[in-house]
Amino acid sequence: MSHAHAQANVNCIDCHENGIEDKIQETVWYVTDDFDDPPYKRAFPNEMCTKCHSDIDAIVAKTDFGEANPHNSHLGDLVCSDCHKMHNQSHAKCADCHNFEFLQNLPADWDKEAKKTK
Ligand code: HEC
Ligand code: HEC
Ligand code: HEC
Ligand code: HEC
Repeated sequence: MSHAHAQANVNCIDCHENGIEDKIQETVWYVTDDFDDPPYKRAFPNEMCTKCHSDIDAIVAKTDFGEANPHNSHLGDLVCSDCHKMHNQSHAKCADCHNFEFLQNLPADWDKEAKKTK
């Protein structure tokens, strides 16, 4: 996935901005010693993606596979990086519970195995 972005000249800092909010948040974690929800989980908000991919309606329309739509489902609003991994194989989260045809037809850089969590 980072490959598609590199080809489009999207650089590390276009995504990893380390904005002022992150700095404040880091301080809060440091001061409160509260790591219940660790930084790496919070550091990748959807704004990281939607500042460029702002037309969500268009994305939803493009992935309407009839049987189901990964961008519009009963799971509600999801975090982009739940599925789109930038530096690892992307994971089709819906496959954890479903076996939709569109999942089988995803490009090879998608992991479509159900993640078994015990
Ligand atoms: C700085 C702007 C920018 C940011 C930030 C950005 N993208 Fe992209 N993205 C692009 C461009 C440009 C392309 C290539 C042209 C296109 O397909 O629209 C692209 C392509 C894609 C594609 C299609 C890849 C393919 O193989 O066809 C996906 C999926 C995607 N981005 C998801 C994301 C996700 C998820 C994030 C957040 C983690 C993100 N992007 C952040 C600019 C950005
Ligand atoms: C439940 C998993 C899932 C989540 C969550 C998710 N996506 Fe996707 N996304 C997909 C799948 C599956 C595709 C289709 C991949 C393909 O055909 O290459 C896709 C395709 C895309 C594309 C390419 C559309 C195209 O064909 O031009 C973009 C851009 C994109 N997603 C952005 C996002 C953004 C931004 C978010 C967060 C707001 C997000 N996605 C959340 C699964 C997901
Ligand atoms: C399109 C947006 C995007 C681009 C471009 C991008 N990253 Fe990332 N990066 C992410 C996201 C989202 C994650 C969260 C984990 C994942 O999705 O793989 C991440 C995770 C990371 C991590 C792990 C951080 C952690 O705490 O887990 C490092 C290190 C990293 N990126 C470095 C880089 C470097 C270096 C570049 C440039 C070569 C780069 N990234 C380009 C979106 C991006
Ligand atoms: C944790 C498990 C789980 C995940 C993950 C999940 N679903 Fe479901 N989904 C269900 C259950 C349970 C039902 C209801 C079962 C039924 O009636 O067949 C359902 C029903 C549906 C239906 C109604 C049609 C049908 O086949 O019954 C659609 C469409 C659907 N899910 C799409 C999605 C999409 C798209 C995703 C990924 C964004 C997703 N689901 C992720 C558990 C899940």
